[in-house]
Amino acid sequence: MTIDLKLENGKLLIGDQLIPAEIGIDDGSIVKVSRIVHEHADERVDLKGNIVLPGLVDVHVHLRDFKLSYKETFETGTMALAAGGVTCAVDMPNTLPPVNSYRILVKRIDEAKGKLYVNVLFTAFPSKRDILKLVTLTYFFKIDFSRTNFLDFNPYNEGELSEVLSKVSSKTIVVAFHAEDTRETSGSWPMKASAETSAVKYILNWLVKFMNRYDGALKAHICHVTLPSTVKLILERKRKLKNLTMEVTPHHLLLSKRHLGKFKSIAKVTPPLRSSHTRRRLLRYFSEGLIDIVASDHAPHALTEKAEDVAKAPPGIAGAETMLPLLLNLVNKGVISLSLIKRVLHDAPCKLLGLKHDICEGSKAHLTIVDMKAKWKIRGEDLYSMSKLTPFEGVTVKGIPSITIVNGMIVMRDRVVYENVKPGEVINEWRRKGTVS
Ligand code: NCD
Ligand code: ZN
Ligand code: ZN
Repeated sequence: MTIDLKLENGKLLIGDQLIPAEIGIDDGSIVKVSRIVHEHADERVDLKGNIVLPGLVDVHVHLRDFKLSYKETFETGTMALAAGGVTCAVDMPNTLPPVNSYRILVKRIDEAKGKLYVNVLFTAFPSKRDILKLVTLTYFFKIDFSRTNFLDFNPYNEGELSEVLSKVSSKTIVVAFHAEDTRETSGSWPMKASAETSAVKYILNWLVKFMNRYDGALKAHICHVTLPSTVKLILERKRKLKNLTMEVTPHHLLLSKRHLGKFKSIAKVTPPLRSSHTRRRLLRYFSEGLIDIVASDHAPHALTEKAEDVAKAPPGIAGAETMLPLLLNLVNKGVISLSLIKRVLHDAPCKLLGLKHDICEGSKAHLTIVDMKAKWKIRGEDLYSMSKLTPFEGVTVKGIPSITIVNGMIVMRDRVVYENVKPGEVINEWRRKGTVS
């Protein structure tokens, strides 16, 4: 039997051990994992001892497109993800027009098909009017407490929030929360740290009541936490609620207010970068394994928009391509382990989304191969994202993704994305057809 692709000379991360292994891939799936794969293959790739991780997942990405195509498109955004070693991403619904109706979600999925370099799950704002139809197409909903204008209900009213979500309480859905309470501040940037605390407290209190009443399948996910105190609040509530997770971004782990002074609008982001003291404690909590997920919150903007002064420029950092290299660099510095990266970029995201990316025979071949020795100097101009701006400009990292494989196809190798290979699928479609990943 001849198979499509054989990855030779790799290493698998099992627990904390690296085990030499080869992987055989055929027809998009892993057909063999063993010390030596004897089958003949049409294509053989020598991994030269690089490490094969299960395909990494970014649960927070703004792909833009639609009328925001001047910032990023489905193509450029997913190319950036592939370049960053990400095989699957969750797209956020704050687009133009926003994804807050069934009609727009259908349009978004239809327009994305055939343009994706990695797999994408499209999400929606829950809508009082459309939620029962939306849930036939997505299981991931976003509620942004900092900008409630996309919603047709008031999330600050516990009753209204419960009413909308109770309509789908029998289904397994994920609700991701941007937790910044506009009632705490004027709503203008930067919001105070107390806005995060207040919103997180509100969400956690509401969640306990909701879960007691509906003991349902709702999974609550708190986006981009920035404060050690928030991490503690969530950890405490996790003892009572099993379906509660939190995410942190690389920029909140690695950058502080100081960088805002240096990078100005390029480092403007919501929630804002905090003090270096806060940042260091957040990084310590992360390295201790207290935070479930790392996500990029890839939020690209046009050069002209970011050329405005800090007060006027839109917030957002394009981080899809730098997330994994920055984390691998932390492994090389001895701050975290590679198995922690696997937990926060694969295990926990896959569990949240109900995906299966494990490296075993019969699984779909989604793989992220990393070279722990290669160095890379981050330069905005080299990024695949349309936003060529990064607050990590000039930083040299050690450790990069060297190959990204999506649905059995090599989509990136040595930082080059294969432009004519677009193996990405719309995950929402699998749900519709009732098939698993
Ligand atoms: C995001 C964006 O630009 O869409 N910006 C940001 O600073 N994170 C919105 C968001 O995730 O809150
Ligand atoms: Zn947000
Ligand atoms: Zn975001």
